Amino acid sequence: MGVTQLGYIGVNVSDPDAWLDLMTNVFGLEARERKNKTAPLQFRVDDHHHRIALYPAKSDGLQYIGWEVASMDELRRLADHLSSIGVTVEQGTPAEADARKVLTFFKFRDPDGIPSEIYYGPIIDHDPLRFGRPISGFNAGRLGLGHAVFACKDQYKSAEFYMKELGFRLSDYIAWDDADAIFMHCNPRHHSLALMNPVFGMKPGDLNHFMIETTSMDDVGRAYDLVLERKIPLILTLGRHTNDLMTSFYIKNPSGFAIEYGYGGRLIEDDAKWDVRKYSATKLWGHQLAMAEPML
Ligand SMILES: [Fe+2]
Repeated sequence: MGVTQLGYIGVNVSDPDAWLDLMTNVFGLEARERKNKTAPLQFRVDDHHHRIALYPAKSDGLQYIGWEVASMDELRRLADHLSSIGVTVEQGTPAEADARKVLTFFKFRDPDGIPSEIYYGPIIDHDPLRFGRPISGFNAGRLGLGHAVFACKDQYKSAEFYMKELGFRLSDYIAWDDADAIFMHCNPRHHSLALMNPVFGMKPGDLNHFMIETTSMDDVGRAYDLVLERKIPLILTLGRHTNDLMTSFYIKNPSGFAIEYGYGGRLIEDDAKWDVRKYSATKLWGHQLAMAEPML
């Protein structure tokens, strides 16, 4: 019970053209057609209508993050449960549900004020994907969009909220330099959510990065070539993580936070056989800091 995957994110962006170019021509996502340039940009990685929505705006920032649950009954149960522990929960309007291409959803704020949503019933698109550039594809589906990492006032307290109230399970911990992060899963993906202390100039509630995963190492390598060729601001060079074993690199997106683009993350198929560990480094190799500010 609880949430089953990272379903979608919505971000306000001040430079939609730069985002569109990055997401399609570098990362290979499918951009859905839109009526006009003020309409949101919607990006598809699998059979969900879209998983990333970018809203042209004056300033940049996360508008919402959506977590899927498996049924209407479970959605109602979770919404009632959050209300019962004092969280303000509001049902999304039919127009808002249509914008997200889900049947029904509820909004609430997590302990750090992160604009969060729980939903059920994603609208499915049966047309084959038309990638923004030739790539093999994205590892999403039942594993969800990918993962998101946030800074928190008290990451242990927030993690307790996600585990106790929303059904996340603990994956592991990494502490390095001044940073201290907790990784959690809600399906076999090693982590759909990680929470860390507010280091590296972040404030509680800030989105550090989101990750999308390809189905081939070559997709990551080719995107890396394009990033270097186009001098897209690289944050971490190609490298491999200690805990989820993802091989990835990080860039700074036009809104100022990071995107991790990776391949080959490990799965936690059986919680009963999973041993929680605390790691003292994020990387097995690579992931060299390519910018002034350190990032995950
Ligand atoms: Fe990550």
